[in-house]
Parts: sequence; C-alpha cells; structure tokens
Amino acid sequence: MRRFLIAGNWKMNCGPADAAELLEGLKNAKAEVAEEVDVLVCPPFVSLSMSVNYLHDTDIQVGAQNLHFEDNGAFTGEVSATMLTEAGCAFVIIGHSERREYFGETDSTVNKKAKKALENDLVPVICVGESLDQRKQDIHYQLVENQTKAAFEGISSSEALDAVIAYEPIWAIGTGETATPEQAQEMHAHIRGVLAGLYDKETADGIRILYGGSMKPGNAEELLGQEDVDGGLIGGASLKAEDFAQIIYAR
Ligand code: PGA
Repeated sequence: MRRFLIAGNWKMNCGPADAAELLEGLKNAKAEVAEEVDVLVCPPFVSLSMSVNYLHDTDIQVGAQNLHFEDNGAFTGEVSATMLTEAGCAFVIIGHSERREYFGETDSTVNKKAKKALENDLVPVICVGESLDQRKQDIHYQLVENQTKAAFEGISSSEALDAVIAYEPIWAIGTGETATPEQAQEMHAHIRGVLAGLYDKETADGIRILYGGSMKPGNAEELLGQEDVDGGLIGGASLKAEDFAQIIYAR
C-alpha cells in the first residue's frame, strides 16, 4: 500500500525568517497530523537546518531541492548528499524542470544524483515531464518514458522502491493551468508501466508517483483521487500554510 506524500517545493522563496513564519503557520494549521499522509517541505538550502530544528516535534519532514553527485571537493556553490543528511534532510528533489531548463540538468546528471541520494539514505523525488510543445507533437509519453528509464539506470529494484517520481507537465507549472485528472492518471499509469518493464509489477506498484503543476485546494481532491496519483509536489500553493494544509487534507 503506497502512502500519500504531499510535498512542498518552496523554490527560491523563504530565507530563515520567512521560513519560520510559514512553518509556524503549518503547525497552526495542524498540517502534520493527517493520517496516512507523509508531509514534506523543501526549503532553500539556507533554511534547511532551521526548518529541521523547527519541525523536530512534528511529523513534517524536510528535503532539499538539489544536491551534487560528488561526495565533496572543489565544486563551488554545490552541496553534497552527506551534507544534506547531516543537516537533517530525508528527501531531495532531483531534476526539476527548472533545473533542467536553467541549470543544465540532464538525464545523466539526474541519474547520478538519484544514485548518490539513495546511497546516502535520502529519498530522491525525481521529476519528469513534458513541455507544451512536446505534448502538441504527441511525443510526451515517449519523452517521459525516456526520462524515467534514464533516471533509474543502474538502480536496483530494492533501491527503486525508496525513490519517488514526480510527474510535472512543464506547461502546468506555475501557470495556473493544471493537467486534467484524466491526463494525470494516463501519464502516471504509463510511468508505472515503464517501471514494471524496468523491474516488475510489484516494484512498480510500490513506487510513489506524485503529480505537480498548479495543484491547489480547488483541484487537489480530484487529482489525488486518481488511482495512480500518490500525492503532490506543490510549488505556489505550498507557500501559503492554509492552502498547503487543505491539500494535505484533500483526500
Ligand atoms: P506549482 O509548481 O505548484 O507552482 O505549479 C510545482 C513545481 O514546480 O514543483
């Protein structure tokens, strides 16, 4: 049985002071107490430690938005997996479309980062998804399949079970436009089929697949009600404690 995961991707928002305010709001909204739902927030690096401390008496987990695949060394500006675990992170987002588009993330670096995360007991939240142009060209299934296969290359089935996938159609991120529940379900089922091909049905059935792209209180229930949608990766709406809490309780 897959546990729901509702994850907030704060992106480049909320330094320590704003993070404290938002986390206080989440505590007040009792965002952590929904049963059968794992709750995760992913603040920027500088707010990770304080978020971990702030949330130590709650069930809300903390994750980072990126990591480097090397252990340490001369990589100015980068942060390693061991640094994240030392800071108290349990999860890390990998291959978000914004990183693929603006920071040169490729299928190959996504794979290296996913492996490094798993080696260090960090749950990788691996993002896949197509642009509007790719959907119009009708290559979205193939594209997401390729991204998924590349991300899991060299990862065993027992490790894969610890990973999370986030399907985020780029055309729905931050645009207010959402995939319909049917579009989300179709792609999630496709991804699960790809995982069954890579591993086996049992493994595929155990891996959580989140939907991301303008999820908000008004559409969360329908999206989360789809058979293969196991939670959400939420950007904009995760910056408002009440909205995020409502999504946690949407199901
Ligand atoms: P959004 O972002 O909810 O603001 O569309 C989702 C994401 O990029 O993870």
